[in-house]
This record gives sequence, C-alpha cells and structure tokens, in this order.
Amino acid sequence: MTQNALVFNKVEKSFGELKALKNISFTVEAGTFVALLGPNGAGKTTLINCLNGLTKRDGGEILVMGEDPEVNPLHTKMALGIVEQELVFDPFFTPLEMLRMRRGLFGLKPDEEYVNWLLDKLSLTDKKNVRARQLSGGMKRRLMIAKALAHKPTILILDEPTAGVDVELRNSLYEFLGELKKEGMTIVLTTHYIEEAQLLADKVAIQDAGETLIFESTKTLLGRKKKILELTNEDGEVVTLEEGEKGGFNLEKISADYPRAHNLRVIEPKLEDIFLEFTKKK
Ligand SMILES: Nc1ncnc2c1ncn2[C@@H]1O[C@H](COP(=O)(O)OP(=O)(O)O)[C@@H](O)[C@H]1O
Ligand SMILES: [Mg+2]
Repeated sequence: MTQNALVFNKVEKSFGELKALKNISFTVEAGTFVALLGPNGAGKTTLINCLNGLTKRDGGEILVMGEDPEVNPLHTKMALGIVEQELVFDPFFTPLEMLRMRRGLFGLKPDEEYVNWLLDKLSLTDKKNVRARQLSGGMKRRLMIAKALAHKPTILILDEPTAGVDVELRNSLYEFLGELKKEGMTIVLTTHYIEEAQLLADKVAIQDAGETLIFESTKTLLGRKKKILELTNEDGEVVTLEEGEKGGFNLEKISADYPRAHNLRVIEPKLEDIFLEFTKKK
C-alpha cells in the first residue's frame, strides 16, 4: 500500500482582501519527488508555511503522514524537514554546533556519525567549526539543508533552494536529492528553474494565483507537447515537422518527401514552454 505523505484538499488562506491560497488540492505519495512550480506570488511559500504552523489556513484539509499539522504539530514537525526560502540561523554558531543543537531540540540522541555524514554530503566538512556568519551565501544555503535534515525527517521540503546559487552547487545538490529519493525520502521542491523540475521530479504541480492549475506526472505533462523534427531539405531550407498523433515520426514518408534531407534534429518538448502556456492562459 502506498501511503500519502502529504494531502492538500481545497486549502484556502487570505491575508485581508488578498486570497493567497484559493483552492490548493494535490496529494504527494510517500517516496515521490514533486516539483511545485509557480510564478512569484503564486502562494507557494504560504502553502509551505501552512505545513509548519507559521500560517493558519482558513479552510480545507492538510494531512502530513496522515495527521493535521494544526491538530498534531509535534508529529508534523518530526516528519518534515523544511528548507525555508529565507536564510535564517544564528550567525554565531558553527555548522557542527547547529546540527547538534537541532537534534537536541527534537529530543533526539546525538548522532555524530549522521551529523558528520550530512556535513560531508553538503560539502561543509572543512567549515564545520567556522561561525555561520563567515560562510559564503552558497555555504549558508547548504547549511539550511543540513539543518532541515538533522532530525532525519521522512519528508523534505525545499523552498527555492537554488535561487542565487551557482551552477556547480546546484548540480551537487541535485545529486544529493537524487540520493535521498533513492533512500525513500519524499521530496517537494519549489523552484524557478524549470529545467531542474524536469530533471528530478516524478510529478509536477503548477500553482498560480493561489490555485493548483495542474498536478500530474512529469512524463504526462511533457507528453502534452509534441516533439519536433527539424531538417534541411535539398534547397537548403529548414523544415519543421511535428510528431504524429500517436507519437513518433513516419520516417518512410519523411524520406520520400525529403529525399535529400540532412541536419536532422529532434527537438524535445520543454517543461518551460508548457509551464508558460498554463500560467499565461490564466
Ligand atoms: N504574511 C503575509 N501578509 C500579507 N500578505 C502576504 C503574507 N505572506 C504572503 N503574502 C502575499 O500572499 C501572496 C503569495 O505569497 P507567497 O506565498 O510568498 O508566494 P510565492 O512563494 O509563490 O512567491 C503574495 O501576494 C504575498 O504578497
Ligand atoms: Mg516563495
């Protein structure tokens, strides 16, 4: 039986007149990687804040591993590791101290082996005894991730963890997230970098103006757009052909129509285009 790690059912939240969340509904099965995409102001952070008790929802249902975070906040806190969008921590502590304290805060026994593994995985080992204020932006971001994982949560939520982060760090982060997923962790990633969603996510949720516009597997979503075959014909003109209804290209017909075709190139659909289509339609 697959367990639901997260359930959002018609979640609503207003700030005065502003409806930040109007109708958010999607379910994240345990062990899946979901990318939560949406333009600025879509309500992604507000939704995450409804999980950790920073924000009280006005209506609808939220379940974290089967429990409502407002009814059983302790259960939710143990289950969730949340990497917030803003960098928040005490600048005078070192990464090692922070991770140890974090475990203490959850009433957990020290686990030096795990803490050091985390520091290693997030490339912070050689900075583990340096005060956090002396770390670079990218290191601080990695420290946020280590902190969120210190109590070994089953669900990891990352709110734009790669904003303003260099490419190398992004790639190593993807690798690490892939490793966590393999070990069975449920991961929700909100991001502006749509290619990273395409690369990592089993499922994509597109949110705009407080509503879930779409929630489906990355593969199905990408299948909504056709592949394009580009070729150069005998007159040197570039011709583009769209994939057929059932997918794929009729190569026999193409070689009959364009006997001297060269420079053939298949252009794969991009999640970015689909995302823009959906959010523009609104
Ligand atoms: N505490 C708050 N008070 C008033 N408005 C808020 C508050 N938090 C968020 N908002 C507003 O709610 C909307 C959604 O914001 P947010 O959840 O941060 O979106 P996103 O994370 O998708 O960029 C925005 O219009 C934002 O200005
Ligand atoms: Mg946000």
